[in-house]
Amino acid sequence: MQVAERKNKGSRQLWSARFSEPVDELMMRFGASIGFDRRLAAHDLRASAAHARMLGKTGIISRRDANAILRGLKQIGEQIEAGRFRWKIADEDVHTAIERRLIELIGDAGGRLHTARSRNDQVATDIRLWLKEDGAILRRELALLRRALISQARRHVKTIMPGMTHLQVAQPTTFGHHLHAHERAFARDSGRLADAIKRADVLPLGSAALAGTAFAIDRKMVARELGFAAVSENTTDAVASRDFAIEFAGACLNLMVNLSRLCEEIVIWSSQGFGLVTVADAYCTGSSIMPQKRNPDAAELIRGKSGRVAGHLAALAMMSKGQPLAYNKDNQEDKEALFDCL
Ligand code: ARG
Repeated sequence: MQVAERKNKGSRQLWSARFSEPVDELMMRFGASIGFDRRLAAHDLRASAAHARMLGKTGIISRRDANAILRGLKQIGEQIEAGRFRWKIADEDVHTAIERRLIELIGDAGGRLHTARSRNDQVATDIRLWLKEDGAILRRELALLRRALISQARRHVKTIMPGMTHLQVAQPTTFGHHLHAHERAFARDSGRLADAIKRADVLPLGSAALAGTAFAIDRKMVARELGFAAVSENTTDAVASRDFAIEFAGACLNLMVNLSRLCEEIVIWSSQGFGLVTVADAYCTGSSIMPQKRNPDAAELIRGKSGRVAGHLAALAMMSKGQPLAYNKDNQEDKEALFDCL
């Protein structure tokens, strides 16, 4: 009874032409990634535009169709930016939503955008584009943190502080020397992020579902347009691999561990037992019944959040370890972990 009811509410998908029954409503909601992969919309539109231009240039589709597709994609981008795009759970993911809307806007030509590609190489391209761009933002923020540490270190070249081992007072040192030690760790984190981003800087598009396409596509043109340093050398690997995601999460975790250690010190230094530093009013919380308290919430939160990133690294590794080549839907789980790491 319940099943029959749900079936009535089921939905038809772009790929379901050969299915006689609609997808169950529960399955549709369970399988959908649109709630979180909408974040890739701008990347998906850009990758689609590059693909369309390539299809037009190589004559795989007509110039007319390519131009219609480009206009349609632009319009969709404007609708998304204005908050006027209707995201529907039945579209399953951002790729299908954009394609569905494109066909609504420009008709049959919209369907030709999917020539010589698959959602498998599409999603791998989108997520790598995202990682390159937002990963670069993370590195810029990290550079600001390093600069702040250096300028504080300069101010405290002569500020004596107890250097510790085993949290026991050991040798005297300076606060400047100590802050510079943290800066050095963050410099390595920046290098690790750069390495991870560099390895992600390879274009999967053109791999199609897994074994490539018979159309004479121009992958170098697409790579150039999207700013990828290289094209992937094996189509199966390009759609199957998420080690770049594990590597990025690993770099993020190393960064979080180093941040957590600095924060742990701030908590210790600012406690009444140590009394080495005072956290500024703007960055701590107090208590109405215990007026002596200055809780270093920000430091504690950063220390706490490092656990989340450790969880995401483990999740991405476990997500990958049981997958036979090539693409499996497990990979849909990469996005929330990556977004949250960032
Ligand atoms: N939403 C999917 C993901 O995030 C896109 C790829 C789907 N491909 C497929 N063959 N079902 O991985």
